[in-house]
Amino acid sequence: MEIFLDTGDVEEIKQAARWGFIDGVTTNPSLIAKSGRPQTEVICDIVNIIDGPISAEVIATDAEGMVREGRELAKIHPNVVIKLPMTEEGIVACKELSQDEIKTNVTLVFSSNQALLAAKNGATYVSPFMGRLDDIGHDGIALIEEIRTIFDNYAFQTQIIAASLRHSIHVRDVAMVGADVGTIPFKVVKGMFNHPMTKNGLDQFLKDHANSN
Ligand code: E4P
Repeated sequence: MEIFLDTGDVEEIKQAARWGFIDGVTTNPSLIAKSGRPQTEVICDIVNIIDGPISAEVIATDAEGMVREGRELAKIHPNVVIKLPMTEEGIVACKELSQDEIKTNVTLVFSSNQALLAAKNGATYVSPFMGRLDDIGHDGIALIEEIRTIFDNYAFQTQIIAASLRHSIHVRDVAMVGADVGTIPFKVVKGMFNHPMTKNGLDQFLKDHANSN
């Protein structure tokens, strides 16, 4: 599974880049707003740090506006992926951008039928929001499994980005059911390194080594 960082914080991305396993980055208007900087500036910085797909979301709500914005954002760098909301307009824009060979990420996906429509119109990625479904007592992992089955049934090339992941159990679960990508907040990735028994074991090894010298 590929691991994307879900953030608009350039400092976090710089720190994560040294790990060597970050395959891409996703942003959204809320994450960009937190950075306090214009989206174009943030995306320009990110493409210089991570050599992989970088999702940048359109703000327009009509297909024509989305396509216009998407074409502008795509000019920043060939790795930029245009994030489109899962609406009727977004799906129309997806078709047009895909025909221009501009990569797309259909976001705010909460049902497998929505994912099917995005795949039909050539989306490069769909982003089902697992955590937000769990938040309201629905079954987030079941959605990822359904989409995996549908895409495999018909050999759709659209990749599944399991999004809105809240903790490391989410990461393990989406990897188990075959998400192509997990997009993960910095803090959650940091947590994936740790296990108390690893720490205890290492402390003991170092202590024994020090005592033997
Ligand atoms: C995905 O692309 C979104 O940016 C993100 O995963 C949303 O996560 P949230 O539900 O924590 O806001």
